[in-house]
Amino acid sequence: MKKIAKPAKKAVKKKSVSVVKSKSGIKTASTKVRSVRSKKLIVANWKMNPGSIADAKKLFLATREIARNSKGVMTIVCPPLVYLDTLRKLYTKSTVLGIGAQTMSTERVGSVTGECSASQIKSVGAGYVIVGHSEARARGESDHDVNHKIHEAILEGITVILCIGEGARDDDGDYLTFIRNQIFSALSQVDRTKLGSIIIAYEPIWAIGQGRADIIDGHEVHKMVLFIKKTLREIYKDDRAMQTKILYGGSVVPKNAKELMHEGEVDGVLVGGASLRPRDFEAIVAAA
Ligand code: PGA
Repeated sequence: MKKIAKPAKKAVKKKSVSVVKSKSGIKTASTKVRSVRSKKLIVANWKMNPGSIADAKKLFLATREIARNSKGVMTIVCPPLVYLDTLRKLYTKSTVLGIGAQTMSTERVGSVTGECSASQIKSVGAGYVIVGHSEARARGESDHDVNHKIHEAILEGITVILCIGEGARDDDGDYLTFIRNQIFSALSQVDRTKLGSIIIAYEPIWAIGQGRADIIDGHEVHKMVLFIKKTLREIYKDDRAMQTKILYGGSVVPKNAKELMHEGEVDGVLVGGASLRPRDFEAIVAAA
């Protein structure tokens, strides 16, 4: 477990933030922040795939190649927890490739059979963790759990990929209230200065796993991005909260990736099914 060289990265991040605050360094720092921000994030959510460690290694090596050949993209692979430690030994942490967990416990220590804590996932290499995915919510992860996990992950220095999304649309706009409530609840007591550790993934449940390029268009995604930003501003009463990275997820495939990312004006995408098919994933990364 000697490989915990992460504090160094944290320190660098903090430095650049503090430079932003000091008047003398504003120019350099803001340029740096801007270039980091414009990098698209492509998250590969492998879900409960593939079926063996041998296949996971193969898929990871193919994905690693795609990430290495990409430009202006940060690829984050979220494999099943059980593969994390093996896979993190196959890469060097870089600005083009990172790995994350698909879940973690709300608890820090104790008798929690079957779960893994934030510090445990971090110790096997997770720099990111998906929280609030609709599939986890459907299995019982509550809004309260989501909020709790976010606090635990932040304490460990893990970046949270917070999934939000409505089950269905309605003409009265109730789904917007639902999304707003999800954001309010997830970010309860999360300080504005911690928003750099949070990425929000808008994933309408009705679009997940359909594999249909026409399920949603860039314009609609953009409307939701604006709504999420507006909600963040409402919570934090600070324009800087709107700089939080926002991803789109749900049936991202090679055919719609460009439109969703560019017209949708998102900071990247969360890819399920297509992340298991290297050719498709490569095309999505290329579309960023
Ligand atoms: P999908 O999954 O790309 O297969 O729709 C996305 C997700 O569930 O995160």
